[in-house]
Parts: sequence; structure tokens; C-alpha cells
Amino acid sequence: MSHHGAVMEQLRWVNRTDDPFDHVVNVASVPQRSPFRYPGGKTWLVPEIRAWLRSLPIKPKILVEPFAGGGIASLTSVCEGLVEKAVLVELDPHVAAAWRLILEDEAWLTEHILAFKVDRDSVLALLAKEPEDWREKGFQAIVRNRVQRGGIMAPGASLMKNGENGRGISSRWYPQTIARRIHEIHRRRDRITFIEGDGLEAISAHAHDPKVAFFVDPPYTAGGKKAGRRLYAHNDVNHEALFASLAQVAGKTLLTYDEAPEVLALAIKYGFQTQRVPMKNTHHAKVHELLLTCSGGFVNQEAFA
Ligand SMILES: C[S@@+](CC[C@H](N)C(=O)[O-])C[C@H]1O[C@@H](n2cnc3c(N)ncnc32)[C@H](O)[C@@H]1O
Repeated sequence: MSHHGAVMEQLRWVNRTDDPFDHVVNVASVPQRSPFRYPGGKTWLVPEIRAWLRSLPIKPKILVEPFAGGGIASLTSVCEGLVEKAVLVELDPHVAAAWRLILEDEAWLTEHILAFKVDRDSVLALLAKEPEDWREKGFQAIVRNRVQRGGIMAPGASLMKNGENGRGISSRWYPQTIARRIHEIHRRRDRITFIEGDGLEAISAHAHDPKVAFFVDPPYTAGGKKAGRRLYAHNDVNHEALFASLAQVAGKTLLTYDEAPEVLALAIKYGFQTQRVPMKNTHHAKVHELLLTCSGGFVNQEAFA
């Protein structure tokens, strides 16, 4: 196959193009499985994630999501039988405590969610409290994610004022729905592993297994971009080390980034194929993100000299 043919083959799963008239995925048509409303959440990318996993020559056994956040790729893949297991990795200890609760103590978490009456005073009191244990820390994280503007968890984010539909601070607090999503995750807990730690280490730990697929959605801070810093408390990613490490894994990788010259330079250096996909940003403007894939065998000798 020619080089061009190989690239086209690799990108055949990308079912949307750069055509200015192409459509942006209607997120209402994608099942919402995450209890988080995560800034940078990848619900809009679910059709591509499915298509990518189905297109792989060897059906992956495990999906590793090294920058998990709300874990949409893992939840979709496990719930839809696209992989046997998912491994989620997240560095933020608050988000990590919430994942641990979802997987280990659904009863405690659901009871607290259903009993919590959301108003400004109750939220301020809960969030001002030093958590007594990891359960309280996880519960605070879930509440914070639902009442802060845009779901932003980073320090300094403000509470919603008028809410996103005039309902004030409780406009994104749907206790029954959140509890149902938690239940659906908890009952699949044998197939979901959560690790509090560094995504790069998790990539190295699975680097030699050809039956692993990596869905990688790091904070977008390459080239000094601000978005990733404002949205996440943990955003200090070594992007070059990430590319270098993914270029060497035996499995397959789908990496997402915003469109920055630094990202394109890294893609070329480490032999990733790129594709732009349209999405709507929070201001409902159509913007593009980059999807990057790597065949898995590429090693840039110069980079490792
Ligand atoms: C863009 S968000 C992921 C959103 C996710 N794809 C979703 O659909 O909800 C990036 C996440 O990576 C986490 N993070 C940052 N540095 C990390 C690291 N070194 N290891 C693991 N997670 C990290 C951030 O806390 C944040 O939750």
C-alpha cells in the first residue's frame, strides 16, 4: 500500500470531514453515561470513539484512559461492549475520590446525593468544609462539578448565578439522573479499574500489550494555551513526553488536542496522523479539534538518540 493509502486506511474511521457544511454531532443523540459534567467532556466525540475502536484490526481488550476526567470514552466502551475492560487514570485527588466512591460505595454516595438539598447556603457550607474522609471529599467533588459554572473544578471557579436555565444554582443538579448513572457504572465495576495517579505512568505500564487501546485527552496546554490551566487544577503535562511515549506503545492510540502549531509539530515529529473534527464550543461557535492516531510501531530515532 502506498503511504497515502496507508494514511487513508488509518483514517477511514473518521466519518466526518473538513467540509464546511459538515454537521456537528448533536450531543442529545449520544447517551449520557458520566455523572460528571466535565469541561472538555468528550460526549460530542463518542461517534468517532466508537468508529475508531470498531475499525481496529485486533479488537482491543482494554481501553486505557490516562486523563480520565468524566471518563466518557471508558464508560461508552464498556457499556457498549466495545472493550472488555477500561482503566481510568486521574491525578486530581477530588475527582479521584469521586470515582472511588462510584465504584466502591454506591449506597453511601447515592444516599447523600438524594438527601442533599441544593441551595446557595447548603452548597457554600458543604464546599467550605474540610472533608473528614475520602467519601466526603468525593461527594464534595460531585456537588462542586454540578454547581460551579461550566462544571469547572479548578480553584477560583465561581458558582453558577442564574444557572443555565434560570433555576439558579440547582440548574444542573438532577439527583435521580446522577444516581441512575452512578448505578449503571457501579454494576459494571468488575470491568472498570480506577487509578489515582499519573496518566503517563499508566501508558508506560500498558506499553507492551498490543490488545490495549489508549484514548488520550490531556489538558490543552501545549504552546502555553490557557484553556487547560483555567479548567483543571492539574494541567502540568509534558506534551512532548506524552507524544514520545505513545509513539512507542504496542497498542493503538487515539489522541485529542486543540489545533495548535505546537501540537502539529509534535504530530509530525512522532509520526501521528491528524484529522480535524468540528465541534461547538461553549459559546456555540463551531471550532475544530484535532484527532491524532498512531499506528503504534513508529519510533523516531532522532528523538531517542
Ligand atoms: C480534558 S480533561 C479529560 C476529559 C474527559 N475526556 C471527559 O470526557 O470527561 C483532562 C483531565 O486530565 C486530568 N489530568 C491532568 N494531568 C494529569 C496527569 N498527569 N495524569 C492523569 N490525569 C491528569 C485533569 O485533572 C483532567 O481531569
